Amino acid sequence: MAVLGLATGAGHCASFGTSVRVLCQMYRTGNLTKMLSNVLIARRNLHNTQQNPLFGDSVNVLGQTYQTDDWTNISPKVLAKVGQNLHNTPCNPLNLIRKRIQNFFYNNFIKGGRPLFSVYDKISPVVTKEQNFDNLLVPKSHVSRLPGESYYLNSTYMLRAHTSAHQLDLIRTGLNSFLVMGDVYRRDEIDRTHYPVFHQIEGVRLFTSFELFQDVRDSTNLSLFEDGQRLPDRQECHTMDAVKLLEHQLKTTLYNLAHNLFGADAEIRWVDCYFPFTHPSWEMEVKFDGQWLEVLGCGIMEQQILHAGGAGEKVGWAFGLGLERLAMKLYNIPDIRLFSSKDSGFLSQFNVDNPDTPITYKPISQYPQCINDISFWIPDDFSSNDFYDIARNIGGDLIEQVTLVDTFFHPKTQRHSHCYRIVYRHLEKTLTQGEVNEIHKNIEDTAASRLGVEIR
Ligand code: PHE
Repeated sequence: MAVLGLATGAGHCASFGTSVRVLCQMYRTGNLTKMLSNVLIARRNLHNTQQNPLFGDSVNVLGQTYQTDDWTNISPKVLAKVGQNLHNTPCNPLNLIRKRIQNFFYNNFIKGGRPLFSVYDKISPVVTKEQNFDNLLVPKSHVSRLPGESYYLNSTYMLRAHTSAHQLDLIRTGLNSFLVMGDVYRRDEIDRTHYPVFHQIEGVRLFTSFELFQDVRDSTNLSLFEDGQRLPDRQECHTMDAVKLLEHQLKTTLYNLAHNLFGADAEIRWVDCYFPFTHPSWEMEVKFDGQWLEVLGCGIMEQQILHAGGAGEKVGWAFGLGLERLAMKLYNIPDIRLFSSKDSGFLSQFNVDNPDTPITYKPISQYPQCINDISFWIPDDFSSNDFYDIARNIGGDLIEQVTLVDTFFHPKTQRHSHCYRIVYRHLEKTLTQGEVNEIHKNIEDTAASRLGVEIR
């Protein structure tokens, strides 16, 4: 379960939507905080007793050295993805789609003859926990802080789990309208639409009272702030006038963006949701092949964040969208692993000068899958994400999917067992059963020694 939000993942999105709805409910009842504090304590205890066996005292990321400690849970395979910068790589579909989104903002928001939004696409993905969570008011007990959800370099630094991690810093520099584009990292299950790294675009726009109300005919009595109560549709400090105008502005902008990307006939709807850093908050869903799919999360920025950034006299909206999910739909790309493929058969299909050129991906040859199951008895503190990481670390991009296919409780021994199905497939050649068996055995042995599972 990946739960910072929602819809902004690669295919992470699929799990976000539901979990957000469930989370909202749990937040309201207070059960979430209780449950999560217990889980956090249990998981921290587990981590205190486990050293990361894959690194020594330190880990090097983008030329910087970080001392490892009992929080370190980054894996070499994920580390190898840092610095790939697919969103800045010509011919990569992620680069095409980010250009389209950037152009949309450049063309539609101009102030004094210049683009209103400035673009940041080279900010390092290494951030502090403070940037990723605290600055965004993510509660200490929020599930997204669990070691099972994010990649930590140590107890201070992590790989950003969303581009929102840069909101406060950029507001502090005095910016009012900006887009942040970059790679983000989340621990998750593995399949065709889930990958531990994906890409997001964050948008933030702040308004002074003058800017927000300038098009209202009689705006003399309008103000941004009042002393009120927090309600489902506004924060305690915002006036209804301010919130309604901001909501209208935000939704129109994103609605136009979605039509720009997916065509005038695209069906779009809004769903209420929850983020710690916006209120009220919404997800946008777009209909593809008869199914609603969450594509972005957004909302009115929490005023406390603007205060902390020295922009307390303004109000603002923010959104975050996941590029892989959009690109997979837009270009008909069937497998998320293809984005990091260096295969010319893939990249040459996206070699166009004009990012608006319509492209439908034609699959390069499909090689057969090899399917192997693995069953084991699990210890009490077992987390599936730890197993997915081991599989991914050993099998890398040869692993197309890992799914939990069966669970079993033995009444006599009182032990639980899990069975995972691992689907192996090479994107560029046929794998032999011998090659697969070797990797599979390595995964079994590593899971047994690191996670304390007992292979059945
Ligand atoms: N950061 C959120 C996520 O990754 C998306 C978001 C950004 C939501 C900005 C609201 C405002 O899910």
